[in-house]
Amino acid sequence: MSKPEFSKEQVNVVFVLGGPGAGKGTQCSKLVQDHDFVHLSAGDLLRAEQARDGSEVGALIKHYITEGLIVPQEITIQLLNNAIKESYGRGKHNFLIDGFPRKMDQAITFEEVVVPSKFVLFFDCPETVMMERLMERGKTSGRDDDNVESIKKRFKTFEETSMPVVEYFEKQGKVVRIVCDKPVDEVYKEVERAINEKL
Ligand code: C5P
Ligand code: MG
Repeated sequence: MSKPEFSKEQVNVVFVLGGPGAGKGTQCSKLVQDHDFVHLSAGDLLRAEQARDGSEVGALIKHYITEGLIVPQEITIQLLNNAIKESYGRGKHNFLIDGFPRKMDQAITFEEVVVPSKFVLFFDCPETVMMERLMERGKTSGRDDDNVESIKKRFKTFEETSMPVVEYFEKQGKVVRIVCDKPVDEVYKEVERAINEKL
Protein backbone atom coordinates (compact mmCIF):
# COMPACT_ATOMS: atom_id res chain seq x y z
CA MET A 1 0.00 0.00 0.00
CA SER A 2 1.27 3.48 -0.79
CA LYS A 3 2.04 5.95 1.96
CA PRO A 4 -0.23 8.90 2.79
CA GLU A 5 0.61 12.26 1.19
CA PHE A 6 1.39 13.72 4.64
CA SER A 7 2.54 12.22 7.93
CA LYS A 8 0.94 12.86 11.32
CA GLU A 9 4.02 14.87 12.24
CA GLN A 10 3.59 17.22 9.27
CA VAL A 11 -0.06 18.08 9.71
CA ASN A 12 -2.72 17.94 12.42
CA VAL A 13 -6.11 16.97 11.05
CA VAL A 14 -9.20 17.20 13.24
CA PHE A 15 -12.39 15.81 11.74
CA VAL A 16 -15.48 17.83 12.70
CA LEU A 17 -18.65 15.74 12.45
CA GLY A 18 -22.30 16.18 13.37
CA GLY A 19 -25.69 16.34 11.69
CA PRO A 20 -26.67 19.16 9.36
CA GLY A 21 -27.28 22.28 11.45
CA ALA A 22 -25.38 20.97 14.48
CA GLY A 23 -23.11 24.04 14.43
CA LYS A 24 -19.92 22.64 12.88
CA GLY A 25 -19.26 25.67 10.70
CA THR A 26 -19.99 28.16 13.49
CA GLN A 27 -17.61 26.48 15.93
CA CYS A 28 -14.89 26.09 13.29
CA SER A 29 -15.07 29.82 12.48
CA LYS A 30 -14.54 30.64 16.15
CA LEU A 31 -11.55 28.29 16.38
CA VAL A 32 -9.97 29.92 13.33
CA GLN A 33 -10.19 33.33 15.05
CA ASP A 34 -8.50 32.16 18.26
CA HIS A 35 -6.16 29.40 17.09
CA ASP A 36 -3.94 28.71 14.14
CA PHE A 37 -6.32 26.52 12.17
CA VAL A 38 -7.27 26.30 8.52
CA HIS A 39 -11.00 25.53 8.23
CA LEU A 40 -11.90 23.29 5.31
CA SER A 41 -15.60 22.56 4.94
CA ALA A 42 -16.21 19.65 2.57
CA GLY A 43 -19.66 21.05 1.77
CA ASP A 44 -18.24 24.50 0.98
CA LEU A 45 -15.54 23.00 -1.26
CA LEU A 46 -18.19 20.97 -3.11
CA ARG A 47 -20.44 24.03 -3.55
CA ALA A 48 -17.47 26.04 -4.88
CA GLU A 49 -16.63 23.28 -7.35
CA GLN A 50 -20.30 23.09 -8.37
CA ALA A 51 -20.26 26.83 -9.11
CA ARG A 52 -16.89 26.84 -10.90
CA ASP A 53 -17.09 27.66 -14.61
CA GLY A 54 -16.03 24.67 -16.64
CA SER A 55 -16.35 22.13 -13.83
CA GLU A 56 -17.05 18.69 -15.26
CA VAL A 57 -18.68 17.51 -12.06
CA GLY A 58 -20.82 20.57 -11.23
CA ALA A 59 -24.14 19.05 -12.30
CA LEU A 60 -23.37 15.79 -10.55
CA ILE A 61 -22.53 17.59 -7.29
CA LYS A 62 -25.75 19.63 -7.46
CA HIS A 63 -27.78 16.45 -7.82
CA TYR A 64 -26.19 14.73 -4.81
CA ILE A 65 -26.46 17.83 -2.62
CA THR A 66 -30.12 18.47 -3.43
CA GLU A 67 -30.92 14.82 -2.74
CA GLY A 68 -28.97 14.94 0.53
CA LEU A 69 -26.73 12.13 -0.71
CA ILE A 70 -22.97 11.72 -0.32
CA VAL A 71 -20.98 12.81 -3.37
CA PRO A 72 -18.63 10.07 -4.67
CA GLN A 73 -15.53 10.13 -2.48
CA GLU A 74 -12.98 10.69 -5.28
CA ILE A 75 -14.33 14.19 -5.88
CA THR A 76 -14.39 15.31 -2.24
CA ILE A 77 -11.03 13.79 -1.32
CA GLN A 78 -9.38 15.40 -4.34
CA LEU A 79 -10.77 18.82 -3.34
CA LEU A 80 -9.61 18.38 0.26
CA ASN A 81 -6.17 17.09 -0.72
CA ASN A 82 -5.64 20.07 -3.05
CA ALA A 83 -6.74 22.52 -0.35
CA ILE A 84 -4.47 20.96 2.29
CA LYS A 85 -1.49 20.96 -0.09
CA GLU A 86 -2.07 24.59 -0.97
CA SER A 87 -2.24 25.66 2.70
CA TYR A 88 0.67 23.45 3.70
CA GLY A 89 2.70 25.21 1.03
CA ARG A 90 1.93 28.47 2.85
CA GLY A 91 3.24 27.07 6.13
CA LYS A 92 -0.08 25.91 7.61
CA HIS A 93 -0.13 22.71 9.66
CA ASN A 94 -3.43 22.59 11.58
CA PHE A 95 -6.63 21.67 9.78
CA LEU A 96 -10.27 21.45 10.79
CA ILE A 97 -11.95 19.21 8.25
CA ASP A 98 -15.63 20.06 8.65
CA GLY A 99 -18.38 17.70 7.47
CA PHE A 100 -16.00 14.95 6.46
CA PRO A 101 -15.78 11.95 6.45
CA ARG A 102 -19.50 11.39 6.03
CA LYS A 103 -19.24 7.81 4.77
CA MET A 104 -16.98 4.85 5.70
CA ASP A 105 -15.17 4.77 2.35
CA GLN A 106 -14.19 8.44 2.78
CA ALA A 107 -12.83 7.78 6.27
CA ILE A 108 -10.66 4.88 5.16
CA THR A 109 -9.41 6.37 1.89
CA PHE A 110 -8.57 9.78 3.37
CA GLU A 111 -6.48 8.30 6.18
CA GLU A 112 -4.70 5.98 3.74
CA VAL A 113 -4.08 8.49 0.97
CA VAL A 114 -3.92 11.96 2.58
CA VAL A 115 -3.12 11.80 6.32
CA PRO A 116 -4.37 10.00 9.44
CA SER A 117 -6.54 12.20 11.67
CA LYS A 118 -5.60 13.18 15.24
CA PHE A 119 -9.12 13.04 16.70
CA VAL A 120 -12.78 13.70 15.95
CA LEU A 121 -15.04 16.41 17.34
CA PHE A 122 -18.59 15.11 17.23
CA PHE A 123 -21.41 17.61 17.68
CA ASP A 124 -24.41 15.78 19.09
CA CYS A 125 -27.64 17.68 18.52
CA PRO A 126 -31.36 16.71 18.53
CA GLU A 127 -33.00 16.74 15.09
CA THR A 128 -35.70 19.17 16.26
CA VAL A 129 -33.02 21.76 17.09
CA MET A 130 -31.14 21.16 13.83
CA MET A 131 -34.35 21.46 11.80
CA GLU A 132 -35.16 24.81 13.42
CA ARG A 133 -31.66 26.15 12.76
CA LEU A 134 -31.62 24.99 9.13
CA MET A 135 -35.04 26.46 8.37
CA GLU A 136 -33.88 29.77 9.86
CA ARG A 137 -30.64 29.63 7.85
CA GLY A 138 -32.62 28.73 4.71
CA LYS A 139 -34.22 32.18 4.70
CA THR A 140 -30.89 33.71 3.69
CA SER A 141 -28.40 30.93 2.82
CA GLY A 142 -29.46 30.50 -0.80
CA ARG A 143 -28.53 26.83 -0.44
CA ASP A 144 -30.31 24.27 -2.66
CA ASP A 145 -30.67 21.93 0.32
CA ASP A 146 -31.95 24.19 3.15
CA ASN A 147 -35.60 23.24 2.56
CA VAL A 148 -37.77 20.71 4.43
CA GLU A 149 -37.61 18.07 1.69
CA SER A 150 -33.82 18.10 1.40
CA ILE A 151 -33.30 18.47 5.15
CA LYS A 152 -35.27 15.28 5.84
CA LYS A 153 -33.14 13.44 3.29
CA ARG A 154 -29.96 14.82 4.88
CA PHE A 155 -31.08 13.62 8.33
CA LYS A 156 -31.69 10.14 6.92
CA THR A 157 -28.28 10.05 5.23
CA PHE A 158 -26.67 11.25 8.44
CA GLU A 159 -28.22 8.47 10.53
CA GLU A 160 -27.68 5.68 8.02
CA THR A 161 -24.39 6.61 6.41
CA SER A 162 -22.51 9.06 8.63
CA MET A 163 -23.19 7.76 12.15
CA PRO A 164 -21.32 4.52 11.36
CA VAL A 165 -18.24 6.70 10.76
CA VAL A 166 -18.61 8.28 14.22
CA GLU A 167 -18.95 4.78 15.72
CA TYR A 168 -15.87 3.57 13.82
CA PHE A 169 -13.74 6.35 15.33
CA GLU A 170 -15.40 5.91 18.73
CA LYS A 171 -14.12 2.31 18.81
CA GLN A 172 -10.63 3.74 18.30
CA GLY A 173 -11.13 6.10 21.27
CA LYS A 174 -10.75 9.12 18.98
CA VAL A 175 -14.12 10.85 19.46
CA VAL A 176 -14.84 13.82 21.72
CA ARG A 177 -18.63 14.10 21.91
CA ILE A 178 -19.99 17.59 22.43
CA VAL A 179 -23.63 18.23 23.27
CA CYS A 180 -24.56 21.30 21.31
CA ASP A 181 -28.16 22.32 21.80
CA LYS A 182 -26.74 25.09 23.98
CA PRO A 183 -25.63 28.68 23.38
CA VAL A 184 -22.70 29.01 20.96
CA ASP A 185 -20.25 30.24 23.62
CA GLU A 186 -20.98 27.38 26.00
CA VAL A 187 -20.39 24.86 23.23
CA TYR A 188 -17.22 26.69 22.29
CA LYS A 189 -15.75 26.34 25.80
CA GLU A 190 -16.00 22.57 25.47
CA VAL A 191 -14.57 22.68 21.96
CA GLU A 192 -11.54 24.65 23.14
CA ARG A 193 -11.01 22.29 26.06
CA ALA A 194 -10.95 19.33 23.66
CA ILE A 195 -8.49 21.05 21.32
CA ASN A 196 -6.16 21.97 24.18
CA GLU A 197 -6.24 18.45 25.60
CA LYS A 198 -5.87 16.53 22.35
CA LEU A 199 -3.41 18.53 20.27
O1 C5P B 1 -21.68 19.87 5.37
P1 C5P B 1 -22.72 20.46 4.47
O2 C5P B 1 -24.08 20.50 5.12
O3 C5P B 1 -22.31 21.77 3.90
O4 C5P B 1 -22.84 19.45 3.24
C1 C5P B 1 -23.78 19.69 2.23
C2 C5P B 1 -23.89 18.51 1.31
O5 C5P B 1 -22.64 18.28 0.64
C3 C5P B 1 -24.22 17.18 1.97
O6 C5P B 1 -25.59 17.03 2.29
C4 C5P B 1 -23.76 16.21 0.88
O7 C5P B 1 -24.68 16.16 -0.19
C5 C5P B 1 -22.48 16.89 0.40
N1 C5P B 1 -21.30 16.36 1.12
C6 C5P B 1 -20.77 15.13 0.73
N2 C5P B 1 -19.68 14.61 1.39
C7 C5P B 1 -19.14 15.27 2.43
C8 C5P B 1 -19.65 16.52 2.84
C9 C5P B 1 -20.74 17.04 2.16
O8 C5P B 1 -21.27 14.52 -0.20
N3 C5P B 1 -18.09 14.73 3.08
MG1 MG C 1 -21.34 23.56 7.22
